Amino acid sequence: MIKVLVVRNYEEVSLEAALRIAETVKSKPDAVLGFATGSTPIGCYRELVRMHRMEGLSFSRISTFNLDEYVGLAPDHSQSYHYYMFQNLFNHIDVKRGNIHIPNGMAKDLEEECVRYEDAIKQADGIDLQLLGIGRNGHIGFNEPGSPFDSRTRVVKLSEQTRMDNARFFKSLDEVPMYAITMGIATIMEAKRIILLASGEAKAEAIAKAIKEPKTVMVPASVLQDHSDCLFIIDKKAALLL
Ligand code: PGA
Repeated sequence: MIKVLVVRNYEEVSLEAALRIAETVKSKPDAVLGFATGSTPIGCYRELVRMHRMEGLSFSRISTFNLDEYVGLAPDHSQSYHYYMFQNLFNHIDVKRGNIHIPNGMAKDLEEECVRYEDAIKQADGIDLQLLGIGRNGHIGFNEPGSPFDSRTRVVKLSEQTRMDNARFFKSLDEVPMYAITMGIATIMEAKRIILLASGEAKAEAIAKAIKEPKTVMVPASVLQDHSDCLFIIDKKAALLL
């Protein structure tokens, strides 16, 4: 069953998420954390940076795995998820570079890269806490509607809605990559604990479908109903249809 924490606004979503990540790192300094990109987790990352600077929260022993990356964007491309993670979090905390894992969307052999990524997660003994956002179409990572529940890390084609949603970050829609590497639904479900964040009315329908309707591959986040430790931290606007 999905647990739900409804808070007042985006700032509280960010704070509640950061507090849980900080607790995890304090109780298990070598925790394996799964990170997400998109606009939603930025406030949470800002709070983690603040905790590192002001409260001495150390990330020196953690390992990290990101959910996804665009195919064809170099790590220093301003819209790559590599760039995002370093800008918003990794450059500002004491995580070891060698412990950071993000799929390589520039790999010559993308299939091999997906296998390598799955292996790296296994080698690390799995993900202790996976942070997720949710797309307006209910996607998690880049697992678009229709993604099989037994899918693993793979190359996927982005839906037109997702490309349009993300076009605001690029000069034009044409520049938004067509493909990405994403952890699969089964990969995500193996995380020991999952926290999904959502803020704003645009997410209300996806949140309601994920929680209240029978699970279906057409709403990828609905698979989380089967996870034993999954918490949605959402604001009032995202909770409007619950
Ligand atoms: P957003 O994206 O945080 O930018 O809304 C979330 C997602 O698509 O997973």
